[in-house]
Amino acid sequence: MNLSNLLDDRRTLIDSALNYYLPGEEEYPRNIHRAMRYSVFAGGKRIRPLLTLLTAELFTPDWKRALPAACALELIHTYSLIHDDLPAMDDDDYRRGRLTSHKVFGEGMAILAGDALLTLAFELLTDKSNKFSEFDSSYWQYVDPGTKLNVIFEIAVSAGVKGMVGGQVVDLESEGKCIDVETLEYIDSHKTGELVMASIRIGALLAQAGEKDLHRLTLYGRLLGRAFQIVDDLLDVEGNEEKMGKARGMDAKKEKATFISLRGIAEAKVRRDQLYSQALKELDYFGNKAAPLQEMTRFILYRDY
Ligand code: IPE
Ligand code: IPE
Ligand code: MG
Ligand code: MG
Ligand code: MG
Repeated sequence: MNLSNLLDDRRTLIDSALNYYLPGEEEYPRNIHRAMRYSVFAGGKRIRPLLTLLTAELFTPDWKRALPAACALELIHTYSLIHDDLPAMDDDDYRRGRLTSHKVFGEGMAILAGDALLTLAFELLTDKSNKFSEFDSSYWQYVDPGTKLNVIFEIAVSAGVKGMVGGQVVDLESEGKCIDVETLEYIDSHKTGELVMASIRIGALLAQAGEKDLHRLTLYGRLLGRAFQIVDDLLDVEGNEEKMGKARGMDAKKEKATFISLRGIAEAKVRRDQLYSQALKELDYFGNKAAPLQEMTRFILYRDY
């Protein structure tokens, strides 16, 4: 299988699993289920669950056992986007090529859809039911309880106030302000970096990677997470709006503190390139086996959407 087919194959699997985990649109109360599915199936790039699966695949042919955790990360990421777009936060009208959740379902329902996605993530990580399906705990049940607990803890920490939420707080507080580089580092590494790093670490944990490998991948994840937000900030200036499915120029409009507002586009690209080569160096040790992750890294940092 060539790399692009492999990534398509993994994406299809992730989408089928998400479809399985999400309540049906016809289930009562319908509006919240419609809102949850509306945002999850709007065409996200699935970068975080792909990173989890590809990292697990470095160590085991049994990588499918990471699927529930990979999906949990995508549910949490989608929740963070729904809330990020609310009028009280970034006040955006478009996301993943569609009107934002609150534009379609109203603010109350959008807040609840985010809450429900976050909670569902932890439900599927802790579900002990023994339903037989290609996607349920038939994989998950082979993971030992200690590893599961570690994974759930990592996800909780990376999504919470020590991770994504903390970063979003300082992002909001920094609007219209001139901040220092350390504060920008905090914003980027927390609002985006922590969940990206957790995606990678969780893949390694579920595949029983050894301490040294986990350490290498943590460094890789930290570098990639940092570069991820710089690229997102660059795309806000010069990305392909149609492919991105979200409006450009919103950071300047909201006077967001970003790498671009602090240092400019040219320096942002230099920093991105530096982080790219540093991140790839951490993967060198794994040799050819890491080709899919190398390809993902290149895609994440040099995309136009
Ligand atoms: C955008 O993330 C928001 C950030 C955390 C920077 P993605 O670029 O991964 O968005 P989707 O999931 O593809 O929509
Ligand atoms: C979002 O950062 C980080 C999240 C935790 C959702 P941005 O606010 O820059 O993401 P976009 O540009 O709206 O996707
Ligand atoms: Mg934001
Ligand atoms: Mg935003
Ligand atoms: Mg952005």
